[in-house]
Amino acid sequence: MAFIKNAWYVACWSNEVKPDALFHRKLLNEAVVFFRKKDGTPVGLQDRCPHRFIPLHLGKIVDDAIECVYHGLTFDCSGACVKNPHGDGKIPAAAKVKTYPVAEKHGMLWIWMGSETADPANIPDYSVLESDAGFATSRGYLHIDANYELMGENLLDLSHITYLHDGYLGSPEQVGADQVLKEEGSKIHCNRWMPNISVPPIFDMVYRRDGKPVDMWTNMTWIPPSCFLLDSGVHEVGGQREDHGWYYGVHILTPESEKTVHYHFAAAMPPGTNMTPEEAATFSALRRHAFEAQDKPIINAQQEAIGDNNFWDMKPVLLSVDAGPVRMRRSLERMVKEDQATEASAVPVKVVRPAQVNAGPAPANA
Ligand code: FES
Ligand SMILES: [Fe+2]
Repeated sequence: MAFIKNAWYVACWSNEVKPDALFHRKLLNEAVVFFRKKDGTPVGLQDRCPHRFIPLHLGKIVDDAIECVYHGLTFDCSGACVKNPHGDGKIPAAAKVKTYPVAEKHGMLWIWMGSETADPANIPDYSVLESDAGFATSRGYLHIDANYELMGENLLDLSHITYLHDGYLGSPEQVGADQVLKEEGSKIHCNRWMPNISVPPIFDMVYRRDGKPVDMWTNMTWIPPSCFLLDSGVHEVGGQREDHGWYYGVHILTPESEKTVHYHFAAAMPPGTNMTPEEAATFSALRRHAFEAQDKPIINAQQEAIGDNNFWDMKPVLLSVDAGPVRMRRSLERMVKEDQATEASAVPVKVVRPAQVNAGPAPANA
């Protein structure tokens, strides 16, 4: 399925774009190069010189512009060629590269790749990652060899934790969870409530470390097209949330290609969580292990099995737990059509100056 272009996507964690260095990544099938101006403002440009198509990230930064490594054409942060060192030095009209609106928010660099005007106010709220929010944060990145929708379904339907993450995030009784699906505007909430279950090991570490049964919840929110926020935790049976056995899980997907996705994830633990720094580091490492060693190979294998087939043409068996993923898939199909109509009616070349939004401090343990 085509990508939705008119949306904010996470390009990378903010601290991956370092001063005086070029950072590049393929996003939505487009090669993009990022750098910071002298004042720190991030810039995103098409990563391909219009002369002989050399990736600009192989060049160097010169006075808030990129000099191509091959013949020295230089492009400023608006994408305009500002120097041709050859012949009479005239700048050919076609010597320009696309520039993308970028914004720095919640410790992440966001990019807008569509033709509609980008409004940074529409970036999803991940303020729990801000250092002044008081949460202890950890974060990571994985590259997955699958379409972002498959990874999105994995996140929205957490019934798999009983099986795939048994012994980490899951325990057997979770399979009997009450699942409630709610729509709020374009968002979908997929909430699971699991009373009186054996405590999954990771949650035992976040809570009491006594192995006693707990009530547990996983409330996942999908913010289209590919952002997720999980509110998950445990408390004693019949207890209350204020017991501090919970955290927010941040999961953000950015398509790289039809069959690959950039997966940014983070956890934010509220003030008052009873964990030592060592336990917090173990929590973070175990969580990463679950995503990297358990989710990733399964989703990669799923993509391999589906290949180029259309998902619905394969006639997938549908279970009760698929209500959220199916609704997400249908929403995306509708949004893609709307987005394609928008792109088809857009003025072909629109150069927008990169936006700098309230950069804010990076997350606490960035
Ligand atoms: S390829 Fe970039 S200047 Fe020639
Ligand atoms: Fe998982």
